[in-house]
Amino acid sequence: MITAKLETTGVSGLCNIRLATMSRGIIRAYGLVEDAVLLIHHGRILWCGEGAELPDEYKSIQLMDGEGRLVTPGFIDCHTHLVFGGDRAREFELRLEGASYEEISRSGGGIRSTVKATRTASEKQLLAEALKRVDHLIAEGVTTLEIKSGYGLDLDTELKMLRVARAIGTERDVLVQTTFLGAHAVPEEFDGRSDAFIDHVVNDMLPRVAGEKLADAVDGFCEGIAFNPAQIERVFAKSKELGLPVKLHAEQLSNLGGAAMAARNGALSADHLEYLDEAGVVTLAECGTVAVLLPGAFYTLREKQYPPISTFRKHNVPIAIATDANPGSSPLTSILLVLNMACTIFRMTPEEALAGVTRNAALALGLGETHGTVEVGKIADLAIWDVREPAELAYRIGFNPLHKRITGSLS
Ligand code: NIG
Ligand code: FE
Repeated sequence: MITAKLETTGVSGLCNIRLATMSRGIIRAYGLVEDAVLLIHHGRILWCGEGAELPDEYKSIQLMDGEGRLVTPGFIDCHTHLVFGGDRAREFELRLEGASYEEISRSGGGIRSTVKATRTASEKQLLAEALKRVDHLIAEGVTTLEIKSGYGLDLDTELKMLRVARAIGTERDVLVQTTFLGAHAVPEEFDGRSDAFIDHVVNDMLPRVAGEKLADAVDGFCEGIAFNPAQIERVFAKSKELGLPVKLHAEQLSNLGGAAMAARNGALSADHLEYLDEAGVVTLAECGTVAVLLPGAFYTLREKQYPPISTFRKHNVPIAIATDANPGSSPLTSILLVLNMACTIFRMTPEEALAGVTRNAALALGLGETHGTVEVGKIADLAIWDVREPAELAYRIGFNPLHKRITGSLS
């Protein structure tokens, strides 16, 4: 057998760190490695493990002293709508006066009001506003970000939103995964003609979006105030034909069987899921679909129905958590607060919450092979924290202990 000579030029590394690999291969909680060393080469993890086990070949490499800090995989916010025009502060006031999210939506507010503002905003304005929100996430250790369209609901504005989302990935040092959410709501001009709107999404929008390579996945909103499972299934069929993976907003306000339908169509994730029943959970488990929970929307809408966390655990469904950053149901751009809310409100453990913004969030984006854990061969996207205990990231409120974010290189 020929062993390749180990390459040490261009290798950089960190020593004296506590490494929460989040890898399933390490039995300890958080996949924790004490007194660890981590080596990076060409943007990937070359080696990681206990410093005492560092192979001789690597001993001459100059290592940066991590001073005992905690290192985790870079955080992944796997569900956001952070490109949008305007704001919905007035809607917040209306809800405080007693109106419900559904009532506001049905009376032309809600998503439709953001659609108006997004259609009139220029690409430049949308980008400038979105970057402010992105910067909040980056400042809290986010290295990968999913961004959905869905506030255009006409071809030009949907394409505009997706171009802005793509531009964020070049304007900032963050990996952006874009999702086409044409089936988010019925726009005013299709009032009462939701099937005709789905025709438009399937026949006109999807081929253009795919043709211009503007989306990495396709999403929809399956709900009484949006689309039924049969309509969404048409969107999924076309997406599959075009080679695009799918995911779905489902069981947020009622149980229509959307999540199970999505899972049967091979969805990467089903998101929200407060009203999901056990049969639906079993279908997610059987199909390998990730449950993405969104505590910011639960909190903002003062939802009473909790997502079925213990049933997810019972059937080993991977759980991811995300900001759902959007102007209506979750005006939230703090991933650290999402960790705290997942534990405080949903009673997830800090380890589950951390897996929710790393390993399982990567799965929800179809990036499980390259992202989400610290393992040899994976992309070296990391966050270095000024804390010792991983649980500190979840239990503190309004405190950001990020020391440094690493995206492929230590320099
Ligand atoms: O994920 N549920 C549907 N879509 C968004 C809300 C969008 C909005 O209210 O503007 C969500 O909560
Ligand atoms: Fe959402």
